[in-house]
Amino acid sequence: MAASRGKFSNKFGFIAAAAGSAVGLGNIWKFPFEVGKGGGSAFLIVYLLFSFVLCYPILVSEIAIGRRAQKSAALAFKPLGHPNWSIIGILGVFCAVVILSFYNVVSGWVLGYFVEMLLGNFEIGHHFEEYVTDIAEVGGYALAFLIGTAYIVSQGITKGIEKFSKILMPVLIIIILVLTIYALTLDRAMDGVKFYLVPDFSKLNLNVIYRALGQSFFSLSLGLGALMTYGSYLSRKENIVSAGALITIADVGIAFLAGLMIFPFVFSQGIEPEGGAGLIFMTMPGIFQSMGPSLGVIIGALFFLLLAFAALTSTISLMELPVAYMVDKHKIKRKYAVWYSAAVIFLLGIPSMLGNGYSEFFTNFITYVGADKPVNFMDFVTDVASNTLLPFGGLMVSIFSIYVWNRHKLFRELSHGHPKFPRTFLAKYISFSLQYISPPVLGAIFIITILEIFFGVQIF
Ligand code: PFF
Repeated sequence: MAASRGKFSNKFGFIAAAAGSAVGLGNIWKFPFEVGKGGGSAFLIVYLLFSFVLCYPILVSEIAIGRRAQKSAALAFKPLGHPNWSIIGILGVFCAVVILSFYNVVSGWVLGYFVEMLLGNFEIGHHFEEYVTDIAEVGGYALAFLIGTAYIVSQGITKGIEKFSKILMPVLIIIILVLTIYALTLDRAMDGVKFYLVPDFSKLNLNVIYRALGQSFFSLSLGLGALMTYGSYLSRKENIVSAGALITIADVGIAFLAGLMIFPFVFSQGIEPEGGAGLIFMTMPGIFQSMGPSLGVIIGALFFLLLAFAALTSTISLMELPVAYMVDKHKIKRKYAVWYSAAVIFLLGIPSMLGNGYSEFFTNFITYVGADKPVNFMDFVTDVASNTLLPFGGLMVSIFSIYVWNRHKLFRELSHGHPKFPRTFLAKYISFSLQYISPPVLGAIFIITILEIFFGVQIF
């Protein structure tokens, strides 16, 4: 029964939770270093295009499918009359578990840096690479973070997820805004802004396109059914189209702002923008130090604390996928499903923990055919789960909603909460994108990247 599954109390609760899922480490930790690796503005432009043109319509469809079915991702396809498609939902649950396994490790780093800032240890910025090889410390924080996530998920939807998201998101936005303004006043700040905003299309290549696409999906929590699951807790009174637009704008807006904050900092400190996964950890402590000891401690600790909360509202939504699956499908008690998932996720995260310098095997985990350098375990998992499988999930959602479930039923669902929807411009936009843009673009990128990146077949 719908009532026993829990519900968001209103549209604001849903938007806060869904935007809380979308806004996380993906925006503030991952987006800047992907921009750095992808050559700056070239990456940014492709990312923006993908987010609005391709991802927004898929996001709306995911929510609509979840709400119509009143079931979490893996079980949503059956009540719509297409049980064979459940495999896509199950693939999503798998992706969520894999993504959470490394996401939780990074969340542990954030928690650790929060404590270091409280202690006034700004030097930690220069020692990121050593820090992440301290397995006892990093493992301890990751475990603490996972227990926090599991506890909130075990409390259920409205009590746990909604409450946290509503309060913390606005505070995070304010602190980023303040830091951005500060960043822009520093020496060499404009070099950073130029790197970030002045287009340089010579940097554009297949790899940049592939990573920007993966980033759009990852950042919007798309392609694995997280929003489908949240949609299943949404009332039919609410307008999915406008809620989806708000979620997309908030998510992209915060990532954009994070870039505008980080790159002036990066350039003002003479750090390489290609710094990779350590970028914010290497950059931010030096900035807090420059604010003086007391202000630096306050702002530094606040920054990492809020980042930890942003991560928490995302880890909650990731964990909700396997948990909802077990509760809905196997009728396992929520509490047991939560702790069982947490144990599996922690174990799966160990290679990611070890693969940042501690273990040679996981650090130089795999060299793709034709590549000159190996990638570590975390990068490999990101490539498989987030850069490849999420867009694949998105491709399947667009095909499903337009051709299998079919456009009329999608539109009928979207009309609940927005009766005029079928006659609006957005209806045409969404249906055009789902029909003519997503399948060819996502299909082509999927095939080309599998062949080129994983099998070394040279197509371009
Ligand atoms: N969107 C989150 C972020 O940007 O940090 C990560 C994420 C959360 C991805 C939930 C997927 C998901 F289902």
